[in-house]
Amino acid sequence: MTTPRTGRPTLVVTRRLPSAVEQRLAQEFDARLSVDDHALSTAELQAALTSADALLPTVTDRLSAQVLQVEPLRTKILANFGVGFNHIDVAAAKARGLVVTNTPDVLTDDTADDAVMLMLMVARRAGEGERHVRAGAWTGWRPTQMLGTKVSGKTLGLIGMGRIGRAVARRAHHGFGMRVIFHDPYPPPADVVAELGAEAKRGVDAVLREADFVSLHSPATPETHHLINAARLELMKPTAFLINTARGDIVDEAALVAALKAARIAGAALDVFEREPQVSPELLTMENVVLLPHLGSATQETRLAMGLRALENLKAFFSGAAPRDRVV
Ligand code: DGY
Repeated sequence: MTTPRTGRPTLVVTRRLPSAVEQRLAQEFDARLSVDDHALSTAELQAALTSADALLPTVTDRLSAQVLQVEPLRTKILANFGVGFNHIDVAAAKARGLVVTNTPDVLTDDTADDAVMLMLMVARRAGEGERHVRAGAWTGWRPTQMLGTKVSGKTLGLIGMGRIGRAVARRAHHGFGMRVIFHDPYPPPADVVAELGAEAKRGVDAVLREADFVSLHSPATPETHHLINAARLELMKPTAFLINTARGDIVDEAALVAALKAARIAGAALDVFEREPQVSPELLTMENVVLLPHLGSATQETRLAMGLRALENLKAFFSGAAPRDRVV
């Protein structure tokens, strides 16, 4: 961490951010920027909470109730870089009088693109094909080589129909002519559903039974922890694929491994994992599985926009205004 200057609110930024964002943060705050981009330990997080007015954390910073119990607490705002904030115990933060903000909207399109990319990759065996070519194993075109599954016209089942779920539905329905079914305990208004050509189902199970592709777009909450478990994987068609760009612990990863081993589903495409950055070793050996390192929002444009949104939230807070993206 670099040394803070005095006079303005002090801010600890836990990871390296796009340089334009770091420059703006350093202009507005006495910002302690990350030098080596390591994930902060509990002790480092607590040192930040006791020494800085604000913290700009990311998904790799586990701000548990225990971490937030630190004394004396100096930090007043956790301006998260990211839309998901399940790594922050928001009840504990609230109890300690902390404001928590996130960065919604700006990453919706990229995350939806990521989900569609994963769907195409796993259906059309793109990872496997690429490994084949890179290994020098390709001997030339033939009619029966590496046949995948057609995507256009198939049924996409969305678990969660918030901003990202809707953006996926739009791409799938209007781009690939897919039938879109979904479950969300808080469904969008009927006109939005109609515009997406989507059809609400009564529950998660109904979606799983019918979908050729199941894509997860729920937040990680105690209610969605292991939402996709062994029993639910059993409901999916043996020809169906599971796509996860939401949060790893929505899926029971051990149950997923077992389902894939037993060919109870056709494949999976995962951008997020239950114990990131660890990945169940069995998954690494499976050709019908696509694995990405949590890349949903990873474009230059979007990471810049996320940083500027976090900055906007911090500036609003310290000017006494209500931050736009306050979650508690
Ligand atoms: C998000 O914004 O939630 C991304 O997954 C990174 O945290």
